[in-house]
Amino acid sequence: MKNIVILISGRGSNMQALLEAGLPCQVAAVISNRADARGLNIARARGIPTAVVNHRDYADRDSFDAALARTIDTFNPDYVALAGFMRILTAGFVARYRGKLLNIHPSLLPAYSGLNTHARALHDGVKIHGCTVHFVSSDLDHGPIIIQAAVPVLQDDTEQTLAAKVLYEEHRIYPQAVRWLCTDQIELNEHGQVVFRQRKQSGHTLISPELE
Ligand code: GRF
Repeated sequence: MKNIVILISGRGSNMQALLEAGLPCQVAAVISNRADARGLNIARARGIPTAVVNHRDYADRDSFDAALARTIDTFNPDYVALAGFMRILTAGFVARYRGKLLNIHPSLLPAYSGLNTHARALHDGVKIHGCTVHFVSSDLDHGPIIIQAAVPVLQDDTEQTLAAKVLYEEHRIYPQAVRWLCTDQIELNEHGQVVFRQRKQSGHTLISPELE
């Protein structure tokens, strides 16, 4: 059975979704850069080993990332899942885990990389927004896309209602992506694109607002 390590910085709801999904892999550890990350208690309550590597204890990103990698590697993971991990990782760290490092981002990448994705989507008046699970590359919030979920942006949506709708979908697609990986259904091709070994594709179109 494959091993995964989950990295968090805060609430940990995506981590919780992964823990509760009955995945065909072992969550070897949850690691946080903050001792007060709420998600650590959720992991501990489920008997998952936890560790804290506090970025404030290190002089620079390189030394923090090196310490983080040492901690991760003690658990010997096949995959490392970033779940609300709020540190920018160095190119060296990303290269070390190439093809093994995953992230969930609250937008339909490549649109709205970075922070405040829901406010920016509302400001722009986009009619479809969503979330993405992708392999991490050295380009922030870019990298080969595994799965996306799209939600309609309604006229009376606020940042809070939109965030809640997107988060609901995050909790569905992240476990699915990890499940595919842990059952060897995905590979990265030579162009850095994700290919599925065998997948039925759906031809549904999401149109928002609806056609009359
Ligand atoms: C999620 O919206 C995730 O997409 C983003 O940070 C947030 C983390 O939330 N990267 P949680 O800690 O998983 O509840």
